[in-house]
Amino acid sequence: MAFLADMKILYHMLAKPVRGDSHAQRMESFYGGQAKDYDDFRKRLLRGREELWQQIPKPNGGIWVDMGGGTGANVEYFGSDIAKLAKIYVVDLSASLLSIASDRFQQQGWTNVEAVEADATKYCPPEGAADVVTFSYSLTMIPDWFAAIENAYRMLKPGGLIGVVDFYVGRKYASPELKRHKWLARTIWPPWFATDNVFPSPDHLPYLRHHFEQIYLHEDRFRMPYVPFLRTPYYLFVGRKPLSESNHQES
Ligand SMILES: C[S@@+](CC[C@H](N)C(=O)[O-])C[C@H]1O[C@@H](n2cnc3c(N)ncnc32)[C@H](O)[C@@H]1O
Repeated sequence: MAFLADMKILYHMLAKPVRGDSHAQRMESFYGGQAKDYDDFRKRLLRGREELWQQIPKPNGGIWVDMGGGTGANVEYFGSDIAKLAKIYVVDLSASLLSIASDRFQQQGWTNVEAVEADATKYCPPEGAADVVTFSYSLTMIPDWFAAIENAYRMLKPGGLIGVVDFYVGRKYASPELKRHKWLARTIWPPWFATDNVFPSPDHLPYLRHHFEQIYLHEDRFRMPYVPFLRTPYYLFVGRKPLSESNHQES
């Protein structure tokens, strides 16, 4: 049964054409048929999400926005800390994934967690500001990723935290503090992921480090299910919005 569910997911990821005139329509076209089996497969595919949640303190009475939060599975990583937060918003463009999220929140009785259909480049919580904004494997799917980071920057309170976990490739001439990926890794992964409208970039991490004070960075690789020999690079980044605007780090 698990094998058949995997084959269905792989069909959606590798063979089913993605249709739609807008980015939102393309997201729903891609995820609509795999929403039910999404969590089980992505648990094995998308590593580092729980580790990212562990790295971020949960602010008492805080507002946490999970951008591109899909089925809301990440909310499970809060554990009993859910009660500490005033509100958690799970923002996504796919209605099918959000419906799984809403069911989850209702079943768990999490009254301070809400699924919101909106674009990460524009959404702002009704409270007007956030304490934490996270992106788990969503930045690589957002065409205007820089606008999503700028939007997160705007909505974060001074001293607020951004957390990102995602695929990436390093720059050919990476800065000395970052890992250098060899030609094969830099060449193979972008076209590989592009078939799923996932765009690992050499610029996401430098851009994040330029806008936020880095408080945690972990760069690593993992093996994906059904992909022999190769290990794909991914990173975890936690950054703080500077208290003063002039306090940006250089990339
Ligand atoms: C690979 S999934 C990751 C979902 C979830 N964060 C996780 O860790 O399982 C990427 C998600 O980003 C969402 N997404 C892509 N572009 C978006 C945008 N502009 N605004 C909001 N969500 C977006 C997709 O619909 C999808 O749910």
